[in-house]
Amino acid sequence: MNNRAAPALLDSGDGRTSLVIITGASRGIGRAIALAISDDVAREGGVGVNVKTDETSAAELLSAPLHMVLISRSEYLLRETAQLVEERGHGLITTSCHQMDLSDLATLDENFKVVLESLSGAAQYNSCWLINNAGSLGPLGKVSIYSGASTMKELRQAVDFNLTSSIWISSQFTQTFLNPLAATDDNTPQSPFVRVVNITSLCGIEPFSTMSIYCAAKAGREMFHRVLALEHSIDNTTESQQFGSNHKQKQIFKTLNYAPGPCDTEMTDILADSSALDENLRKYFVTSKREKSLVKVEDTAKKLVQIMKSDEFESGTHIDYFDDNIADDPISATTHDTRV
Ligand SMILES: NC(=O)c1ccc[n+]([C@@H]2O[C@H](COP(=O)([O-])OP(=O)(O)OC[C@H]3O[C@@H](n4cnc5c(N)ncnc54)[C@H](OP(=O)(O)O)[C@@H]3O)[C@@H](O)[C@H]2O)c1
Repeated sequence: MNNRAAPALLDSGDGRTSLVIITGASRGIGRAIALAISDDVAREGGVGVNVKTDETSAAELLSAPLHMVLISRSEYLLRETAQLVEERGHGLITTSCHQMDLSDLATLDENFKVVLESLSGAAQYNSCWLINNAGSLGPLGKVSIYSGASTMKELRQAVDFNLTSSIWISSQFTQTFLNPLAATDDNTPQSPFVRVVNITSLCGIEPFSTMSIYCAAKAGREMFHRVLALEHSIDNTTESQQFGSNHKQKQIFKTLNYAPGPCDTEMTDILADSSALDENLRKYFVTSKREKSLVKVEDTAKKLVQIMKSDEFESGTHIDYFDDNIADDPISATTHDTRV
């Protein structure tokens, strides 16, 4: 795998588009990310542009025109997201919706193949992004109460969805869009590049009582995306040497683990309502909901888009919404002590 100079500014003029696939795009953080990308594309006529490839030119990370693929179980809500994306994208964004249950491993491969096959080849894209966002809490409660077949079934479903299907989606996406690039000698500034963003959580790196399955799945998912980054870092390093040390290169492939902060979504509604959750945690969510102090999905989505645009993150790294070095709003970044 190669490390290459970045694609050209805005639309390259060669008819290629950017591609963004978002799982769990029907509501919550996934929908907010779709809309934040749309707003940025509309504002800039092609999101973009912060990475210098040499003294004078810059590179686009998400350029218009852009095709966005939206995935979840709810067809109605997906169509609603798609409509909002297209309205806000001012003609620069097209969408396609794929209704599927990502927790059903018996159909996952076939269903995701349909998505990938509908995208007609890696060569038509300047940049390919997967936002691996869909997730659920799984069973809550202390490990000491786990017993019985129904708990086992719930546990397996949660792992199937939050870990196995997430791994499968990222691996199939990477094979489809990265392998063809690896097989060519195309090493021009217009060469496409591939990014995988895993939506993780503080729960992926710190334990939270009564959330063991969620924490375990998030930790496993995060480690998978670190390994994926590592497997491609060797190739990236090899080729960056071709360009000399003063030439800042965009790596052809990177992964990012982004923790969005505790957000006001249906997921945290469940936490606030759950008698199985650790009482202090539950109170935190009840109070935060009441005081409206949880992170707004629009804010975290906007921050993610900034991180994506700057492309300065190290492949495989974990970045949290509250991390100082990426905070654009110092007030919101310091007023939240408790993070989930
Ligand atoms: N909210 C937070 O505070 C927070 C904090 C840290 C990390 N996160 C992570 O952020 C991501 C999004 O969370 P959220 O708060 O936006 O959750 P949410 O409001 O519950 O939304 C979850 C999304 O995943 C989709 N989904 C759920 N089950 C699915 C399935 N079986 N197959 C396909 N899609 C499915 C849902 O769509 P359908 O119902 O239409 O299928 C929905 O679009 C998750 O990975 C979560 O772990 C959230």
